[in-house]
Amino acid sequence: MNSPSTLNNFSEIPVTLDLLRQPVAKELEEFRQFFKQEIKTDVFLLDQMIKYLHKMKGKELRPILVLYSARLCGKVTVRSYRAATMIELLHTATLIHDDVVDDAEQRRGFLSFNQVWKNKASILLGDFLLSKGLLVSLDADEFELLKIMSKAVKAMSEGELRQLKASKLQNMTEQKYFEIIRDKTASLLAACTESGAFTATENRVLVDRMRQIGLDLGIAFQIRDDLFDYGVADVGKPVGNDVKEKKITLPFIKALENSSFLTRQKMKLLFRKEKKTDNDVSIITKFVHESGGYESAALEMESYSKRALSLLREFPENQARHDMERLVSYITSRKK
Ligand code: IPE
Ligand code: IPE
Ligand code: MG
Ligand code: MG
Repeated sequence: MNSPSTLNNFSEIPVTLDLLRQPVAKELEEFRQFFKQEIKTDVFLLDQMIKYLHKMKGKELRPILVLYSARLCGKVTVRSYRAATMIELLHTATLIHDDVVDDAEQRRGFLSFNQVWKNKASILLGDFLLSKGLLVSLDADEFELLKIMSKAVKAMSEGELRQLKASKLQNMTEQKYFEIIRDKTASLLAACTESGAFTATENRVLVDRMRQIGLDLGIAFQIRDDLFDYGVADVGKPVGNDVKEKKITLPFIKALENSSFLTRQKMKLLFRKEKKTDNDVSIITKFVHESGGYESAALEMESYSKRALSLLREFPENQARHDMERLVSYITSRKK
């Protein structure tokens, strides 16, 4: 069902996460120590949940992006570790909240927090991680970092809320979709590249360019994620959940655009249905593939990653830039 031909136009060799980690392996280790240190707690229930969190490892893509950005603009400093720690804490918090909102059962190949500890405790854990994330900067008098991160957190909540409303009213448009993913996802990737750059250089032009790269990357990243929902591969979280939850994303929007009036009405009706069966989900998934919606969304994703690449090529050619180019390619070709 996947159409890999459109997903990996930038490099011949598939980019793996291991390959991405290599140039910053030592720095990632340092980041992990920072991260672990920050979420220690004496509260028993919280401690149990945090132990579980340590088991369910994520890709650490955002810390990698912070470290790469710092490296591209100068060098990784202790401030870059702070930025990476803050962002991973905020990211983790929003994932936990997101699974409550989306009623998702699985995360990173494990049962989601809301499945194991129910919604109430999950919300509180998310709040704890969020506050810890912001405190990292206050404890170190890093007010500029605090500003960057707070802006991202605000945008993310706004994006998630607007998505909730758009799905309910069934009035999603392509323009709204892009506004939503810019807020809910790209704002945090922009915070990664901006803060990484900021901890390595005082050159505002570079920092602003890095922020723009992060925004484009973030949009491509979320489209890739939305394509997963219409795929078949094991990505460590449920497939078809967006369809079940009536979350309208780009592949479905594009599929409708490509269809006749009648098909559009039929598919919209089915999409709106409460409690869809597995068969309903496969009918919609099949429609998204056969109408070319999947392919069109993949092309759109490529155009954002190309924009990021061309901005990146304004940097002098060196190893750090090459590594970052590989990361861009990973975002659109990743398998989970
Ligand atoms: C998932 O992000 C949330 C989205 C913005 C789509 P990741 O895919 O980076 O999640 P982890 O941290 O690797 O689990
Ligand atoms: C991204 O949206 C979630 C956040 C930005 C917090 P999704 O709801 O698509 O993310 P997944 O698929 O649950 O990881
Ligand atoms: Mg979700
Ligand atoms: Mg998703």
